[in-house]
Amino acid sequence: MSVEVKREYMDFEGVKFPVNIHTVESLTYAWKEFQTRDDDVFNVTFPKSGTTWLQEILTIIYSNGDPTPAKTMYSWDRVPWLEQHLGRQKLENRPSPRLITTHLPIQLFPQTFYNTKAKVIYTVRNPKDVCVSLYYFSLFALLLKCKEDFQEYLSMFLSKDTPFAGWFDHVKGWLTMKDNPNFLLLSYDDMTKDVRANVIKICKFLGKDLDDAAIDSVVEHSSFKAMKENNMSNYSAVPDSIFKKDTGTFHRKGVSGDYKHHFTPAQEEEFEKIYKDCMKDINFLF
Ligand code: A3P
Repeated sequence: MSVEVKREYMDFEGVKFPVNIHTVESLTYAWKEFQTRDDDVFNVTFPKSGTTWLQEILTIIYSNGDPTPAKTMYSWDRVPWLEQHLGRQKLENRPSPRLITTHLPIQLFPQTFYNTKAKVIYTVRNPKDVCVSLYYFSLFALLLKCKEDFQEYLSMFLSKDTPFAGWFDHVKGWLTMKDNPNFLLLSYDDMTKDVRANVIKICKFLGKDLDDAAIDSVVEHSSFKAMKENNMSNYSAVPDSIFKKDTGTFHRKGVSGDYKHHFTPAQEEEFEKIYKDCMKDINFLF
């Protein structure tokens, strides 16, 4: 039986979520019922900020450099989404340590997290690049509201009609954790410059002692090219009824600064103004 995919959002506690893969039950489970364990590792992002990249890096770090799990199991099974409709089923009885992905804004993060030693890795990306990446992804992913016209899409990105609380509130919320020792802040843009240094940083944060060869393997098998070719990570297995693959690929460009090819000077100015206003209390620069 095929399910009709809709470009619609549901409201949960004032936050919008794509309807097809979220339910009140799944979001309530993530927020209020999920039992965090001390050795859980959360890969937290606003969409298009490096979620899939971190799924690959974490998988290969936890296999001590062996790429086999990343090449034989779908990313969404290796590092499942907490808040999606299959979250409970995939995570409840999973052996530790669990690697968990989430786009939840901080106010809906599992309440039990705060009584544990579990760790959060939060990856941020230049919001202009996030906007461009999400613009293309929305044309491709039939779960998301889209606009053909980039100016119209930009207006939507900057409005309240953005899922997962919108980029500004998502990032502002999560940055309040930045001094917590169980919180690691990564930058997608920095990772594109020196992924190895970031892999070492992640290993140190997680207490994973990988030798040089294992670190090299993490870097090699999580490269943009390797992931684009890996059918377990490139979303080629998702049916066309969900991802319209004739309009693009999940692994689009994988670079920092692509916004320069999309934003007009006027759009940049508009964006900067809103950025300065929304982020005025935050000490974080892109
Ligand atoms: P672009 O659309 O700019 O190419 P997410 O996984 O959070 O949805 O983010 C998707 C973005 O990360 C896409 O950006 C995708 O190409 C990029 N990406 C995925 N894997 C990557 C990798 N190994 N290296 C660099 N960028 C990667």
